[in-house]
Amino acid sequence: MKHEPENLTLEQDEPPASETAKGVGSGHLVSPPFYADEYVTIYHGDSRRILPQLGTEWVDAIVCDPPYGIDLQPQRGKTKAIANDTRREAKALWWAMLPLLHAAAKPNTSHFVFGGWSEAWCAEVLREWFTVKGCIVWKKNQFGMGYYLRPQWELAWYLHKGVPPVPEKASSDVWECAREQAPEHSCQKPVELMQRAIQYTGAKVILDPFAGSGSTLLAAKNLGLRAVGIECELEYCELIKRRLAQEVLPLG
Ligand SMILES: C[S@@+](CC[C@H](N)C(=O)[O-])C[C@H]1O[C@@H](n2cnc3c(N)ncnc32)[C@H](O)[C@@H]1O
Repeated sequence: MKHEPENLTLEQDEPPASETAKGVGSGHLVSPPFYADEYVTIYHGDSRRILPQLGTEWVDAIVCDPPYGIDLQPQRGKTKAIANDTRREAKALWWAMLPLLHAAAKPNTSHFVFGGWSEAWCAEVLREWFTVKGCIVWKKNQFGMGYYLRPQWELAWYLHKGVPPVPEKASSDVWECAREQAPEHSCQKPVELMQRAIQYTGAKVILDPFAGSGSTLLAAKNLGLRAVGIECELEYCELIKRRLAQEVLPLG
């Protein structure tokens, strides 16, 4: 796999010292992982800076949930606001990340990227780099608190790079799955939902460059697959590590 950090040099702007192993030679060594086990590697930092260091065409499937650009506010003081989640920040992030995601993906692969219904520009950005083949609706068991119409669903675009193998049979694009009852992150996705997305792609190596609480990474590990996550908030990297330590053995 090409994403091992050794022997790579960073050719971009100088990153903060906290993100980089300083050292040997004239270049900057790639950031060391925050955590790594047999299945999961986590990098702490900005994906825009870390992903280019991890190589090209090494990912079978990107399964991710970037900031939607909706300025999501904390839920009853239990969780906090999401980094890069104003519309302006999220647009800049998506435009910067999509070419990097495309470069990281192997040819003829499929991917899922979650997003918000109100942000029509997301599909436009995705379409610049991937073929948008479909869109799944995650139907939740309950709708959220608040006023007017409360959403009981979220969506994820299903993307192709090249022409991946055709699945053996067709399936519905409405996926029912219960919400997390006690989330520790404002956008925590159910592990079961992420497992379904990973399984649909048939991938062996998964990338989530907006790892959050790590549901994609846990899902991959449960399936006995390798996953690489990047997360810019240190406290979420620590949360992922805790959740991984609690997880049951992979299915094998
Ligand atoms: C929508 S949440 C992902 C939630 C995740 N799917 C889960 O189940 O917990 C987006 C995450 O991306 C992180 N993030 C935002 N900008 C980032 C960046 N430039 N690089 C890495 N992570 C970033 C945020 O801190 C947040 O945790």
